Amino acid sequence: MNRSIVPAIRPRGAQSRAAEDASWYRDAIIYQTHVRAFFDSDGDGVGDFPGLLARLDYLAELGVTALWLLPFFPSPLKDDGYDVAEYCDVNPAYGTLADFEAVVEAAHARGIRVIIELVVNHTSDQHPWFQRARRAPKGSPERDFYVWSETGHEYEEARIIFIDSEVSNWTWDPVARAYYWHRFYGHQPDLNYDNPLVLAEVKRVLHFWLDRGVDGFRLDAVPYLVERDGTSGENLPETHGLLRAIRAEVEKRRPDCILLAEANQLAGEAVHYFGRGDECHMAFHFPLMPRMFMALAMADSEPIIDIVEKTMRLPDGCQWAIFLRNHDELTLEMVTEEERDYMWQYYATHRHLRINLGIRRRLAPLVDGDRRRIEVLNGLLFSMPGTPVIYYGDEIGMGDNPFLGDRDGVRTPMQWSPDRNAGFSSAEPVALYLPPVLDPSYGYLALNVETQRTIRSSLLNWMRWLIHVRKGQKALSRGNFRFLASGNRKVLAYLRCHAEDNVLCVVNLGETAEAAALDLSRFAGRRPVDLFGGSAFPVIEARAYVLTLSGHGFYWLKLAPPEAAAAEAAARKAEGAPALPEETRELPTPAEG
Ligand code: NOJ
Repeated sequence: MNRSIVPAIRPRGAQSRAAEDASWYRDAIIYQTHVRAFFDSDGDGVGDFPGLLARLDYLAELGVTALWLLPFFPSPLKDDGYDVAEYCDVNPAYGTLADFEAVVEAAHARGIRVIIELVVNHTSDQHPWFQRARRAPKGSPERDFYVWSETGHEYEEARIIFIDSEVSNWTWDPVARAYYWHRFYGHQPDLNYDNPLVLAEVKRVLHFWLDRGVDGFRLDAVPYLVERDGTSGENLPETHGLLRAIRAEVEKRRPDCILLAEANQLAGEAVHYFGRGDECHMAFHFPLMPRMFMALAMADSEPIIDIVEKTMRLPDGCQWAIFLRNHDELTLEMVTEEERDYMWQYYATHRHLRINLGIRRRLAPLVDGDRRRIEVLNGLLFSMPGTPVIYYGDEIGMGDNPFLGDRDGVRTPMQWSPDRNAGFSSAEPVALYLPPVLDPSYGYLALNVETQRTIRSSLLNWMRWLIHVRKGQKALSRGNFRFLASGNRKVLAYLRCHAEDNVLCVVNLGETAEAAALDLSRFAGRRPVDLFGGSAFPVIEARAYVLTLSGHGFYWLKLAPPEAAAAEAAARKAEGAPALPEETRELPTPAEG
């Protein structure tokens, strides 16, 4: 890979941390993975930190600049680690704290930041705080770490989130002889932020991980921190107050450490998680995610235009985190019933593919493994206003297994090679934490890193190219965003502009060829240069600029001034697609079990 494109990270403690450094997240390419799913170094069937360490070169080769790790803390693992039983340690199944620190250090050495989970809406019922609370006298500070009720009838306006498995947000605890409040599973009691000791503990947890060099926290389930009678218990002013307190605490210690909100809310509420620039630096763009899929299904740009226009204006320095898929179901909680039905009909015809109010599928199977649709969705992911987040395995088009329970079907082992257990582990297949995908289309014989690394046209190498191009254009990460009328609803056109650079993105959401006529008159005299291959397009004139696109095709065109167009085209041509990964840097194989 071209190492010069990896931004250098200043050593910790460097005397002056440039402002540029503190806004690294705006140019980042985030890769989301679970330690247990990535690579098993010791042959016990479970991925671990030494395994992740051994595979960091793969991530550097892909070009990502930040790694978001799903929860790796001690936990009974009834919700894949979102049921935390100890905040300041590593689950022994994944290694030790020292192993975690080694990953952080090695990631930093490769220009990769590390974002971890802060799951502080709730704990596991096995957490010592809950075990203490249920036995503590009523009204004591220990008891009040959680939210209790004599009747289980308070806060009835709060919706149930896991509707397939929970019937109430209250569960009876025979030890406490009272009901406790939980927005998720019954084994995940919610913490009580009306008790100031809880926030004090959260601050202690923040410091613990900041001291270990983490660069960001994803704030899990952040809208539900506080509950109040007569409200939905979501997005309350008190919750935003807590976020400001958490931000101030982090900022005091590490101004370059970021907060990323998981707030699955309607657009009008989701934007509040940036506060006035004093809450989260980033928030997942939940409103946009289903609209990208909807726009593709309908071959209509309207759903995207509508939502982006509603969510474009953010406080200075804030940025959305854009994603297509993640470890959860593709959520349809925040769309209309009509839209949800449409999405279900189109993307999840079989009941098995649905869970709660969403779809448990990975990216490739959602679009029938259609390479053109995978590419066009990734084209959107990397050019919409925000920081792209890739879900592990989606860069090779990994499939899923909807017959596994809960959301496990999208959490199967990373497919490294056609060898035993997908090259993920040397354990007996029955010992794996989950079986790898085996089916003929998406199984590891058909789809794996080892094979795709060596094929120039593979999805993996195309993704490396996409990432490389994106990283070369600040306009795509930080640029202003403006839609252009295309005269064709199937074709979405927008401009990303940063300083002197203007990048025109044109996307055909339709399955077959389309034409678009754009008013680019204010760029008359300039020449669009294709950022992928370096082709120079005809000079822009005062009249409409007509572009034709193949089905699901898209362009990223730099609108180069006349004097710079030839050089820009030559540079892009010379660069071409990134060279194939060096064969000499072989990926290590799993240890003997
Ligand atoms: C959101 C997480 O993404 C999901 O996986 C988890 O089940 C819930 N929060 C509860 O922690």
